[in-house]
Amino acid sequence: MHLEKREQLMFDGESGEAARQSMEILVALGKIYGAQKMIPITSAQVAGVSYKTIGDAGLEYLQDLAAKGAKTIVPTFLNPAGMDIAQWKEMRIPADFAKKQIEILDAYSKMGIMKTCTCAPYLIGIRPKKGEHIAWAESSAISFANSVLGARTNREGGPSALAAAICGVTPYYGLHVEENRTARLLVDLQCSVSTISDFSALGCVIGEIAKDRYPAFTGIKTPTEEQLKVLGASMAATGSVPLYFVQGVTPEWKVADDAEKITITEAELKTTKMKLDTVHHVPSGHKFPGSSGTEYGTRDSRPQLVTLGCPHASLNEIKLVADMVSKRKPNCEFWVCTSRKLKEESDALGYTKTIQSAGGRVVADTCMVVCPLEQMGYSVTGTNSGKAAKYLPSLCKQKVAFGDIEDILYR
Ligand code: F3S
Repeated sequence: MHLEKREQLMFDGESGEAARQSMEILVALGKIYGAQKMIPITSAQVAGVSYKTIGDAGLEYLQDLAAKGAKTIVPTFLNPAGMDIAQWKEMRIPADFAKKQIEILDAYSKMGIMKTCTCAPYLIGIRPKKGEHIAWAESSAISFANSVLGARTNREGGPSALAAAICGVTPYYGLHVEENRTARLLVDLQCSVSTISDFSALGCVIGEIAKDRYPAFTGIKTPTEEQLKVLGASMAATGSVPLYFVQGVTPEWKVADDAEKITITEAELKTTKMKLDTVHHVPSGHKFPGSSGTEYGTRDSRPQLVTLGCPHASLNEIKLVADMVSKRKPNCEFWVCTSRKLKEESDALGYTKTIQSAGGRVVADTCMVVCPLEQMGYSVTGTNSGKAAKYLPSLCKQKVAFGDIEDILYR
């Protein structure tokens, strides 16, 4: 593998131990994937921020790296942490968890990393341009950056994204290489998709079918960024899909001549939604009349907590919830998860206050999956996100009430 002079000096330890260790990780990764060289990156997004996901071993690794003088040399920001840094007591986060979480954030801070703590950096102005090489680590952010923005990133792990941030380069392979960005699964949508739960269900179905192929969609008309972010997040959750195309929408559209063609119908989306809603057993072929008129959901399936904002909510989404709950108070506690920056905007616009008055909370820096929900007395959680629905049972020991916002807030 060819290294430029600066990269070789790092590899040889001339730029300090932290840079040497980081370049060693990148070279090893490059060798595994057959990269011939490194490519400079313009930004990095580091995952592995929640104490829940990295534990004491991760904290020690970060503190050790910081003590060795690690410094990032490109703009670098963080994935959600395990708690809202300002509201952790009100959220009933255990104090020992909070202490460790603060230590993790301090270690990252010492390395010069911005405490953005969001999986949707593109909603707070961090929007790499088409063709820009980056090293991002959170699966939904990777999908959005590659697909909607046309930037180039592989699916980085926490340590490799951090190493790239410290060295300013990443191995040139995979999705950094133009020829590899080709769809081999052509999805023709035979039904309309309009709500977030529709896009979630579609993403979950296609993620399972894709199997290492990048999907290209026809039949999705003028989707919003919110719909695209949840589509990508759901495909990433069920199939680790890092790139997709939507005809006439995404900046790239390249489909292999021999791509497999499939169609998706409304019936498949309905079945997927019922499967995601794990609070009650749905016998095969049966449909339940729901309290809000949907074909899934029963009065026994009420969530204790409804969590919205997976991926992190945009200001539009926060406003939508505020408008809805100002007219009718929900039947349960609820959170809208977002970035610190957008929470501050929500505070200034009065949305946060409206949501609080209706029994909810705008939660920053964290999300329903990476906070210790299972230690906070919840066992049934509502979501409209395919990704959250996929992870809440395994990572948070939750039963899931899945559906559109109205359905889950007012069951
Ligand atoms: Fe983001 Fe957490 Fe969902 S990191 S994509 S809100 S699981």
